[in-house]
Amino acid sequence: MSDRAGAGGRRLLVRDLAQLVTPLGTEAPLRGAALASVGVIEDAYILCEEGRIAALGPLRELGAAPREANGELEELDGRGLCAIPGLVDCHTHACFAGDRVEEFELRATGASYEQLQAAGGGILATVRATRSAGEASLKDAVRRHRGWMRRTGTTTFEGKSGYGLDLETELLSLRAIRESGGVATWLGAHAVPPEFDDADAYLDFALADVLPQAAELAVAADVFLEEGAFSVDQARRYLEACRAAGLALRLHGDQFNEQGAIGLAIELGARSVDHLEATGDGGVRALAASGVVGVLLPASALFLDRPMPPARALVDAGAPIALATDFNPGSSFCESLGVVSSLAVTQLHLTPAQALSACTVNAAHVLGLAGQVGRIAPGYKADLVLLDAPDWRYLSYHLGADLVAAVIEGGEVTWSRAAD
Ligand code: NIG
Ligand code: FE
Repeated sequence: MSDRAGAGGRRLLVRDLAQLVTPLGTEAPLRGAALASVGVIEDAYILCEEGRIAALGPLRELGAAPREANGELEELDGRGLCAIPGLVDCHTHACFAGDRVEEFELRATGASYEQLQAAGGGILATVRATRSAGEASLKDAVRRHRGWMRRTGTTTFEGKSGYGLDLETELLSLRAIRESGGVATWLGAHAVPPEFDDADAYLDFALADVLPQAAELAVAADVFLEEGAFSVDQARRYLEACRAAGLALRLHGDQFNEQGAIGLAIELGARSVDHLEATGDGGVRALAASGVVGVLLPASALFLDRPMPPARALVDAGAPIALATDFNPGSSFCESLGVVSSLAVTQLHLTPAQALSACTVNAAHVLGLAGQVGRIAPGYKADLVLLDAPDWRYLSYHLGADLVAAVIEGGEVTWSRAAD
């Protein structure tokens, strides 16, 4: 199908939908009771014009005006389908070459993720593959990964660099993500590459030589704050320089150990702190009192057989949370926000509505796209997912199912099961 997301121009009427479901309100990020507040309209229509949502409501209120107006009107039969906002994946490592299937098997027989990493595998194995891939094959890989995401209902995705860690491959990664329509994040502080003796020497290089050009391509910067990766002081230095270059800030924090990532995220006014599998009560309270979004990645915790993040405690304390896949070849080879929504309900004990808000409106906020994507409301980009299900909650209920009947981006059908 076409890759012309957002082309607009024509009008599209999706009618006879079994349900239309959207997070309510206009604010972001949602927290507390608002996180669980979604609107459901039965027997509904959605009218898209110029790539945006023009109108929606119960079909009986549609009237004749859209059909009588001048201009082309495409009609889509929504019988038996539920419309939800296009899903927003705010944390992926979609730009990589090769795979880590050998490590996957080794982990099954006892090797830990941290042991493989310490032995020069893990992230650095993917750095070697990505550096040697070449431009065409790296761009192909991102396009392929983006296609996998689209088929599972993701219409907006963030992609991080971080498997290049040299000037050429980091910039190529950011360009490849942008060319596939992604929101690019410079993960310049993912690991220390082998040509540097220590993290500080690597950061000297990354901030002097890569940041100036990365800041032209990326909207945010990210750092892996963890034992064996970057310390809190190194993360502060990196993030302060990135902020001065105009980038929004993100952190990988509390994945294996609490190292002060939440405190640093709050101190620097970061958009998000992501992972949080190791976060304790103090971190939960601090995040709840802040505007920093906790991005939860349950597919990553499942894939590595690690504890789940304290999602219920965060939500009950009033912290804003988002959900994402963490799609990457090592810790989360999963591109499906549907699967993540299932894990959010079964493992994190969120409700289906909280899970939906977390991977639409709140994820859009993390990407700086609040008010543009993540809701089915007039003026929002016409990004929709049509689920082949009698109830929208099948998104999380039907674990691992192939539920997506069609994906609409900017008012155009960009993927449909019928045409695949
Ligand atoms: O978010 N934790 C750091 N980075 C990635 C994993 C990257 C990899 O294993 O290749 C993550 O889990
Ligand atoms: Fe990650």
